[in-house]
Amino acid sequence: MKNIDPHILVIFGASGDLTKRKLVPALYALYKQKLLPEQFAVLGVSRTNLSDEEFRSRMKEFLPTNSELDAFLDMLYYQPLSTSESYEYPILHDRLTSIAKANSIAENYIFYLSTPPSLYEIIPANLSNVGLNKPNDGFRRLIVEKPFGTNLETAKELNKNLLNYFDEDQIYRIDHYLGKETVQNMLVTRFSNGIFEPIWNHNFIQHVEITSAESLGVEDRGGYYDHSGAMRDMVQNHLMQLVGFVAMEPPVVIEADAIRNEVLKVFQSLRPLTEDDVASQVIRGQYIESKIKGEPVKGYRQEKGVDTESRTETFFGMKFFIDNWRWSGVPFYIRTGKKLPTRVTEVVIHFKKPPMHLFGQTPFSIDAGNQMVIRIQPDEGILLKFGMKVPGAGFNVQTVNMDFHYSDLADKHLPSAYERLLLDCMQGDATLYSRGDAVEKTWEYVQPILNAWKNNSDIPVYGYPAGSWGPDVADDLVETGTWRYPCKNLTDDGNYCEL
Ligand code: BG6
Repeated sequence: MKNIDPHILVIFGASGDLTKRKLVPALYALYKQKLLPEQFAVLGVSRTNLSDEEFRSRMKEFLPTNSELDAFLDMLYYQPLSTSESYEYPILHDRLTSIAKANSIAENYIFYLSTPPSLYEIIPANLSNVGLNKPNDGFRRLIVEKPFGTNLETAKELNKNLLNYFDEDQIYRIDHYLGKETVQNMLVTRFSNGIFEPIWNHNFIQHVEITSAESLGVEDRGGYYDHSGAMRDMVQNHLMQLVGFVAMEPPVVIEADAIRNEVLKVFQSLRPLTEDDVASQVIRGQYIESKIKGEPVKGYRQEKGVDTESRTETFFGMKFFIDNWRWSGVPFYIRTGKKLPTRVTEVVIHFKKPPMHLFGQTPFSIDAGNQMVIRIQPDEGILLKFGMKVPGAGFNVQTVNMDFHYSDLADKHLPSAYERLLLDCMQGDATLYSRGDAVEKTWEYVQPILNAWKNNSDIPVYGYPAGSWGPDVADDLVETGTWRYPCKNLTDDGNYCEL
């Protein structure tokens, strides 16, 4: 592990949910593992008027009590500030200098933007007004939460604006999917084993399926979600990053730019969609009221903050191609949705069938073929499905599973995505952060979908009962077989799993 220089982490939007639910717990986990530098402080910043003590006690509620807790809380400070007002920033500057002096911390700062996106344009400018953007006296890094724009144009604008004040190598665009241990393990699985990589191409792979299902609905985020929808919320960012890791060529070295160059090349090879393709290759759906386990469940349009006539998609499914040497002709399928039967994210590699059916049609549906399931969450692990002889007369074949579960590594702590990503940024390692050009490329790719939906109101939004696997028509996307219908446990699948 690289050395981490003493620094102060400034969280803008510190009174929000992300800070108490994800960021501070991740910092506490790092603290307990002794991964934070000894000279370290967190300065929470937002408009709410709180003292240091009040901020600490708010954070305490979300942290497990432990003998180290008080010492950790002492590292937290708070500064009320109207973040949109440039005249307030000298106050921030002074506060940072005084915390740095009191704790003998060099003037190294990480600024974390966990605010509404409208402030992404303003805070960097205000930091620059007081010289807090320039790495003269120490490092200055800027972490930006998604969304990075809401379409290609706004994404470009945002990048341009950030680059007015910070250099690309100071900007860390967070996509928490890249922080997931199992997502990074895709690179290790692919590039550290002699057995997988030689068959990881169009010669052996029939198709690739990526599912990210959630059983929850929009909860209390209806106001945000109704303007976003599954495409902007999950596909343009998290799912595209998964596609990048599944499909990329081996990087020359394990370094930020080498890896990110390969991911970018995947995005550059995506076969552009026309607005007509959208009608045939993209399915959008919205959950409607139903009963789950006998209990009535609201439809999306009845959720708080959602327009009662909303056409926002809570389900998204798509077929697409990557036009490069490795993936020529291999269909990729992705789907994501809210209020599906279970919470699961996985990548399924479907291998081609053997050249002939020597053993006839048997319960081992030849159509299913061999599958490698890379389970991102939950029950993280890897599953290989293949045919074995059923003991006894004849040559009947059944599907069997070979599985590895991370939970078997009982002595290993599985770091949360935010733990990993915060630590990386502290070390100045941007490998698992999205680069500006890649973000723009994915927006460029999905823009025709947004355009088609906007320009052609005939493209249906299919209703699906909450608790089901999305609209039936999504099944028709997959020409060779069906989606896998995964359950909570990696090795189980089928239409009827636990809810
Ligand atoms: C967030 C989306 O980025 O990712 C949420 O805004 C979604 O809508 C979440 O629920 C999913 O993340 P995870 O880690 O729970 O799969």
